[in-house]
Amino acid sequence: MKFSIKNGNAAKELHDCVILGVYESQELSAAAQQVDSVSDGFLTKILKRGDFDGKLETTLILHDVANVASARVMLVGLGKATAFTEKHYCKAVRASLKALVKSGAKNAVTFLAELTVKKLAAERRVALLVEATLDAHYKFDAIKRKKEKADTINNLLGIDISVASANEITEANAGLAHGEAVASGVSLAKDLGNLPPNVCNPTYLAEQALALGQHYGFKVEVLEREALEKLGMGSFLGVSQGSETPPKFIIMQHLKGKEGEKPVVLVGKGITFDTGGISLKPGAEMDEMKYDMCGAASVLGTFKTIAEMDLKLNVVGLIPTCENMPDGRATRPGDVLTSMSGLTIEVLNTDAEGRLILCDALTYAERFEPSAVVDIATLTGACVIALGHHATGLFSNHDALAHELLRAGETALDRAWHMPMWDEYHPLLESNFADLANIGGRAAGSITAACFLSRFAEKYHWAHLDIAGTAWKSGKEKGGTGRPVPLLTAFLVNRANQ
Ligand code: BES
Ligand code: MN
Ligand code: ZN
Repeated sequence: MKFSIKNGNAAKELHDCVILGVYESQELSAAAQQVDSVSDGFLTKILKRGDFDGKLETTLILHDVANVASARVMLVGLGKATAFTEKHYCKAVRASLKALVKSGAKNAVTFLAELTVKKLAAERRVALLVEATLDAHYKFDAIKRKKEKADTINNLLGIDISVASANEITEANAGLAHGEAVASGVSLAKDLGNLPPNVCNPTYLAEQALALGQHYGFKVEVLEREALEKLGMGSFLGVSQGSETPPKFIIMQHLKGKEGEKPVVLVGKGITFDTGGISLKPGAEMDEMKYDMCGAASVLGTFKTIAEMDLKLNVVGLIPTCENMPDGRATRPGDVLTSMSGLTIEVLNTDAEGRLILCDALTYAERFEPSAVVDIATLTGACVIALGHHATGLFSNHDALAHELLRAGETALDRAWHMPMWDEYHPLLESNFADLANIGGRAAGSITAACFLSRFAEKYHWAHLDIAGTAWKSGKEKGGTGRPVPLLTAFLVNRANQ
């Protein structure tokens, strides 16, 4: 879909559809007032009749409104003017896109970016509008037959975004570029998550990383099993040994910061399918464990976004990726693995595999002398129980880093919630037979998982994002969300601007 920015007149714009906001109090936005006045109060009349109440996310399409050049006028409900936050703004934008797709319009001009949204500048309003529109417009049809593909390809071609004054066009264009960059990373993360696990395996992820690096000109390296053995990544290899598909360790380097600037390292969990291993999972919804590589997908997506933005920062991406399968050679409960750090780990449950692959990647991260390390993982079902599907769980050994990430999540509308990782929780991981056990029991499952990781992250500032509840949706709307690419991008952009 093609966007462009203009400073338009709602009545004179010639498009298939003009999109206008109306508040619940029946108060018309400035652009809606423009249309109302040229059409002799037509919009006011409709509101008086009671056919449109301006409730948030409602829409109404009017045809051939007098003295309006465009064939359709879409009214979009904005809810209460006093409650019109970024979140409501994005909801209204999504609703307008959904209604537009259902209509026969092939192009449109939207005036929603002219609305007052708290204290947001036009640049931010445009970026959010573009992100929300592309997010709502996303379809996964990469592996449907040609015929269905043709049916699902939307014929919506372009949306012009009007801003209230010509002076805002430059900043609005910057917002457009930002929004498109975030959306393309989000879309990549969704695609990788949605692909079936027989396609999106460790080899596929490595190929995607190499292709991204080629396309954008950043360095990508893929370590094979022999190299991982040499590095002593016994914990990661222990997870992968039950699978026919070889493990890969992906290293990406976006080095656009100042010379000598210490990098931010992102580490993504890349289990391309999690059966639980010998501690086999129950059958219900096991297909969703194809999403167990969404941490990796978010790192790849974020790299795509920051590459498109040409972000002036040093960022390293590390992705340990393999399958967790039951097999004659698979790791058993009771096995002890030796991690790259030298710490030995008693595997009490082979389904707690994410931490086993991440811990070696965290040790590997030391060599980059990072300014901060953030790992992203669909790590625990317990995190879903604690926070549901709205907030990502945030754990950190450094409060300032935690707050940076929390703030980034707030501004990106991709929120995280700070969880405790107090000393009191650590003894739950004690083992009689090794330095630590890989599980801490049922209580505080997401916290003990984070405590486990923290033992491998003592040499730098580190945060862990548990995205088990936020990376994908189940049920009728099953699909990847692309989270937390917006959070990570906001975090990195803030760092680059420091
Ligand atoms: N990938 C899962 C976590 C998960 C489960 C995420 C369901 C989203 C939905 C992870 O590898 C896992 O299996 N964790 C176990 C840990 C337990 C054995 C300590 C869990 O959460 O049950
Ligand atoms: Mn598991
Ligand atoms: Zn897992």
